Amino acid sequence: MKPSVFLLLLLSEASSSSHSSWCDLGCDCRGELKFTICSRAQLTEPPSRVPTTTELLDLSDNLISSITTASFSSNRKLRVLLLQNNNISLVEDGSFSQLEFLQKLDLSRNRISTLTEGFSVGLVFLRELQLSHNRLTSLDSRSFLHLDGLQRLNLSSNGIHSIQVRSFSPMSALRQLHLQDNRLGSLKSGIFSMLRSLEVLNLAGNRISDTELGVFKPLTSMTLLNLADNRMSAVYFKTFLSIHTYSTHILLEGNPWNCDCDLQRVFRKLRSIQRLFLDDYYNLTCKTPPVLQDYLLTDVDTELCIAETVTVLVITVTVVITVVAAMLMGERTRKKKKRGMHWTQQGDLSDESDY
Ligand SMILES: *[C@@H]1O[C@H](CO)[C@@H](O)[C@H](O)[C@H]1NC(C)=O
Ligand SMILES: *[C@@H]1O[C@H](CO)[C@@H](O)[C@H](O)[C@H]1NC(C)=O
Ligand SMILES: *[C@@H]1O[C@H](CO)[C@@H](O)[C@H](O)[C@H]1NC(C)=O
Repeated sequence: MKPSVFLLLLLSEASSSSHSSWCDLGCDCRGELKFTICSRAQLTEPPSRVPTTTELLDLSDNLISSITTASFSSNRKLRVLLLQNNNISLVEDGSFSQLEFLQKLDLSRNRISTLTEGFSVGLVFLRELQLSHNRLTSLDSRSFLHLDGLQRLNLSSNGIHSIQVRSFSPMSALRQLHLQDNRLGSLKSGIFSMLRSLEVLNLAGNRISDTELGVFKPLTSMTLLNLADNRMSAVYFKTFLSIHTYSTHILLEGNPWNCDCDLQRVFRKLRSIQRLFLDDYYNLTCKTPPVLQDYLLTDVDTELCIAETVTVLVITVTVVITVVAAMLMGERTRKKKKRGMHWTQQGDLSDESDY
């Protein structure tokens, strides 16, 4: 069942509101104690007497600053844990290790700066992890180590500038990866390895100027690649040619394109690939050369490039002629020599039949 469907079911069940002596002051317990809502309750730490039957615990919009191994140790039935918009900077190793049924964990809008290996221990059934608006700066191979079942990961609006190779590889079930509004500058080949199920990769609003050739190659299920609002001025044809999917939509708007003939040539080739859809191609604008600034790429006069093509053609033809001529000359010389040899060795003149 999808987490959102699950939530809807839970909420529609929660018709009767029953306060219980088990529930902390400021919390609202509903649905035969399956839902404990402690949002906006000025809590500075997780409440201690949450009913053990609770499946949804909402602690959003409080002032909680740390999560410890004791915080949820008696809430093993939790399926949804909402902690967004607190002041959490410390998550002790193993804090969620008892929550074996947890499907959704929302930690967005906190102050988390590192993800240790102990963070994900026990979260094998987690489907959705929200970590946007935190203070993460780098990811490595331990960051998501135990999240085998994760399908949606939201890391948007952090300060992530470095991602080590294999950071995401434990998550072979991942379908959506949201990395928009971070500080990524280049995409190294290998950072998306093993993400065979990934459908959506959002990299908009970073500082990406440079992508290594094979970086998107492992993403064989990708349907949407968003690279809008980055710092790309050129693209390599092979970077996108290596995307081996059934069909992929690519967004490239808001980059400072250098509208030279190379760029036009690359885009012409890209647009001829049937499985790739450059949805915002008609919205791409030039940044350089200065005379073309703010022009649409599609409006830029292509005559210059035609002139260039003609020049290239002339050069190519000249080179070909020279090479062919050189080869012919070489052949002649060889024949002459051969003839000379025949003269000296056998006195045979009949090798004209070779022609
Ligand atoms: C949030 O936590 C920091 C320390 O991590 C503290 O300095 C700050 O006062 C806290 N803010 C609130 C609103 O509690
Ligand atoms: C990711 O987080 C941002 C900010 O909290 C939110 O607006 C967005 O809807 C989230 N995206 C997904 C797919 O969860
Ligand atoms: C192109 O830009 C226009 C105006 O900003 C916008 O309405 C439209 O959605 C964009 N098209 C695509 C495919 O992003």
